[in-house]
Amino acid sequence: MKLVLATNNKGKVKEMSGLLAAFGIEVLSLNEFPSVGEIEEDGDTFLENAVKKATVTAGLTGLTALADDSGLEVDCLDGAPGVFSARFAGEGKDDRANNEKLLALLAGVTPDKRSARFQCVIAIAVPGGPVYTAQGACEGMVAPEPRGDGGFGYDPLFYLPEYGKTFAEIDLALKNKISHRGKALAGALDILSKLSKEESGGMTTVACRDF
Ligand code: IMP
Repeated sequence: MKLVLATNNKGKVKEMSGLLAAFGIEVLSLNEFPSVGEIEEDGDTFLENAVKKATVTAGLTGLTALADDSGLEVDCLDGAPGVFSARFAGEGKDDRANNEKLLALLAGVTPDKRSARFQCVIAIAVPGGPVYTAQGACEGMVAPEPRGDGGFGYDPLFYLPEYGKTFAEIDLALKNKISHRGKALAGALDILSKLSKEESGGMTTVACRDF
C-alpha cells in the first residue's frame, strides 16, 4: 500500500515513515508532489483542517493520503490558541513569541485556572472514497514559566501535574506514549493496517465517518 503524507515537514515525514514501514506501507510526502502546493489551514476546527488536507491531497495525487492538525487549547482563554497555535503571535510561526504571548495573557491567573490540553486529529482519505479520522488529547496546565530544553512549540510551558514535569522535560519515548499525537497515531495505525489488509484482499471492515 502507498500512502502520501499531506506535509512537506521533513521531521514529520521521518517520524511517521519509520512507524509505517512496520506495516509494509510505502510512505511518500508532498515533497514528491510539488504541484500540490500549500494547502491552506482555514478551518475552524482541527478536524476540518485535517480532513481538508487529506481530501485535497488524495484528490490531487490519486493515492490514499494522511494529514494531521494539532494545537493547544487553554480553558481560561476559551480554547485559544486552538487552530491558531502555530501562528498565535503572527504569521512568522515563532515558538518563542507564541510562548511569550501565552504567558503574558495568563499573567496573574492562578494555577487552578491554568488548565489546558493538546489536541491532535489525523485524517486518512481514500481517493474518491471515505475519510477516516482518529483523535488524541493530552491534559495538562500552562506553567508559570518555561522549563526544559526538549521538544518544540509550547512544550516548555505544558506542565503535566502527574509527572511534575513539562513536555520539554520528559523523554521523547514517554511523550510519544502519552501525547495527543501518539494517541491519534495509534488510532491511525489501526485504520491503516485494516485498509492495507483490504487492499491485499483480506476481508476487514473499517469504522468510517462521512464528510
Ligand atoms: P501543526 O499540527 O503542525 O499545524 O502544529 C500546530 C502547532 O501546535 C505547532 O506549531 C505548535 O505550536 C503546537 N503544537 C502541536 N503539537 C505540539 C506539541 O506536541 N508540543 C508543542 N507544541 C505543539
